[in-house]
Amino acid sequence: MQPQLRQVLQQARQQRQQQQQWRQLRCNDEQLVDFCSNDYLGLRRHPQVLQAYCDGLHNHGAGSGASPLVSGYQSPHRYLSERLAEWLAREAVVLFTSGFAANHSLLCTLGPHYQQLLLDRLAHASLLDGAQASGCRWRRFPHNAVAAAGHYAARVPQSLLVTESVFSMDGDQATVAQLLTACPAADVLIDDAHGIGVLGDEGRSCGGQFSASEVDYLTITFGKAFGVGGAAIACSTEIAEYLHNFSRELVYSTAFAAAQAQAINAALTIIQSSSGQALRLALQHNIQHFHAWCLRYGLPVQLQPAAIQTLLLGAEGRALQVSELLRQQGIDCRAIRPPTVAAGQSRLRIVLSARHQPAQIEQLVTALASILEQLGHD
Ligand SMILES: Cc1ncc(COP(=O)(O)O)c(C=O)c1O
Repeated sequence: MQPQLRQVLQQARQQRQQQQQWRQLRCNDEQLVDFCSNDYLGLRRHPQVLQAYCDGLHNHGAGSGASPLVSGYQSPHRYLSERLAEWLAREAVVLFTSGFAANHSLLCTLGPHYQQLLLDRLAHASLLDGAQASGCRWRRFPHNAVAAAGHYAARVPQSLLVTESVFSMDGDQATVAQLLTACPAADVLIDDAHGIGVLGDEGRSCGGQFSASEVDYLTITFGKAFGVGGAAIACSTEIAEYLHNFSRELVYSTAFAAAQAQAINAALTIIQSSSGQALRLALQHNIQHFHAWCLRYGLPVQLQPAAIQTLLLGAEGRALQVSELLRQQGIDCRAIRPPTVAAGQSRLRIVLSARHQPAQIEQLVTALASILEQLGHD
């Protein structure tokens, strides 16, 4: 390694260590109660999803073998795309290897054709990086500030408005209907990563709530409520065909495996069915149970209607300490620190799932209450 590079790496490490922002991988092998993964419906280990994956491996092999335009697009991919398009009432669906790739690619590929990209201040890193990499003029509006978004959109004729349905680090929801009214001429991209499967009729979230003419691009991900991995953008056929020709992530990258598409198809079947409805109901019960117990113990959690709840702890060290003390009590809930969130806003991002038992939620709340008592209030 070149000495200059070593110096840069060491300085960056030292700086982050001083700020208690240095991260390290920790293998998730311990038998802890998981309150941090995005497996909202517990589909990651659902027998039908696992069986479909196994059958897919047997029938189609471990990998897709090529990019979608070469030979990586196989019958399970096509079946999945067609089902998703129908379910979300869109003309077409384009599959990507991840939500990050989908958002980044969409903005890099189509961003240059807009005069302005308008992003909510809390939009995900993939959207922010995509906007930056697009070379298009972009700006952020204050979080959920409808009037500010409308004001900026009105000043530049060809704008693309970008926001999320459920914000990943805060768990609150975008005011999509008001944004659409405030920005009537703008095209709209909604990242529905944390809403799809969980919210609305049949778990369709924004796809069920907003038409294709209202929301031009809808990003959905399969690594959260679907319990698998990968992502898609639901859009018009014209846009889908353009992306397949010009998105570098699609043209120059291997497609996800057909077995994975088969597992996602199985997850979709569950999400659309009455057992999916029962899982969403179980999740809602768990959210309500968590809220009730937080109120009972006076926990200063920002209570949100969806699965993501946040306990703001402020300083990085405090968030790390609370997370570590929870781990010692058998609970996995990792600290979220800058630069993922703003300075001074380190937190626990508590994720609830349909698979949690009431007793596990009670264990979490009582453990948190006693840890905060022990550490003293900040
Ligand atoms: C709002 C949002 N969009 C996109 C992504 C990226 O999705 P993926 O994990 O599939 O890359 C995430 C992941 O954390 C997210 O929270």
